[in-house]
Amino acid sequence: MTKIVILTGAGISAESGLGTFRDKGGLWSLHKIEDVASPDGFSRDPDLVHRFYSARRQQAAQAVPNAAHAALARLERDWPGDVVIMTQNVDGLHEAAGAHRVLHMHGTLSGALCANCEHRWTHRRKCRLTPPAPPVARARPDVVWFGELPYHMDEILTHLEEADIFVSIGTSGQVYPAASFVQEARMQGAETIELNLEPSEISAAFTQHHYGPASEVVPQWVARLLPDPA
Ligand code: OAD
Repeated sequence: MTKIVILTGAGISAESGLGTFRDKGGLWSLHKIEDVASPDGFSRDPDLVHRFYSARRQQAAQAVPNAAHAALARLERDWPGDVVIMTQNVDGLHEAAGAHRVLHMHGTLSGALCANCEHRWTHRRKCRLTPPAPPVARARPDVVWFGELPYHMDEILTHLEEADIFVSIGTSGQVYPAASFVQEARMQGAETIELNLEPSEISAAFTQHHYGPASEVVPQWVARLLPDPA
């Protein structure tokens, strides 16, 4: 059975109204990474970090999945082989579209983590991040920051080794280790496909490319793999 491994980035959620990081007007042109997405930034100014993620959490809570998320959920449901989504996104829109096998390598906006003891809990998507009670003292968003290790890496590497098809959707290929997944999959003989608005930094590493908005190119790609829904 053909196993499909999918990596997604901010571009898949752009048409759901969530900003990307490095496009014009993207989050990293408005905020300094070292202030809002690093352990040092959190130590210096936790309120600033909480304000940044609270705003993102509120935006994500209002966002709805688009046709690209829906197409991947359909692929997961109807493909006879294994389908795994590994996402750099923290917005939860894959699950909102009905996908179940999603590995959140950069954490989730709905997760909270104690910076002192690593206790984890979830909170309602619309709430501000607040610790449930002492002694859980230093609540931080359960998202992976620069200088920290992404989650689920052992599992991800196993999926990449097993992949027959590796697809990268809406990611600029500028952040590692996600940017190296195409090489991992290719070394194991997988077909590699890039679906993105435009060629990414690492587009040369892919054997197939389809460029355009995710809400168009992802459903088109899924439609080529699956017959029309009954
Ligand atoms: P980027 O902002 O770096 O890249 C977004 C990509 O999506 C670009 O290649 C765009 O061309 C593409 N894109 C934009 N709109 C699109 C659309 N409608 N359809 C398809 N593609 C579109 O975002 P990521 O690659 O996800 O990490 O960034 C990776 C990581 O860098 C993030 O997870 C985040 C960030 O720093 C952390 O915060 C740890």
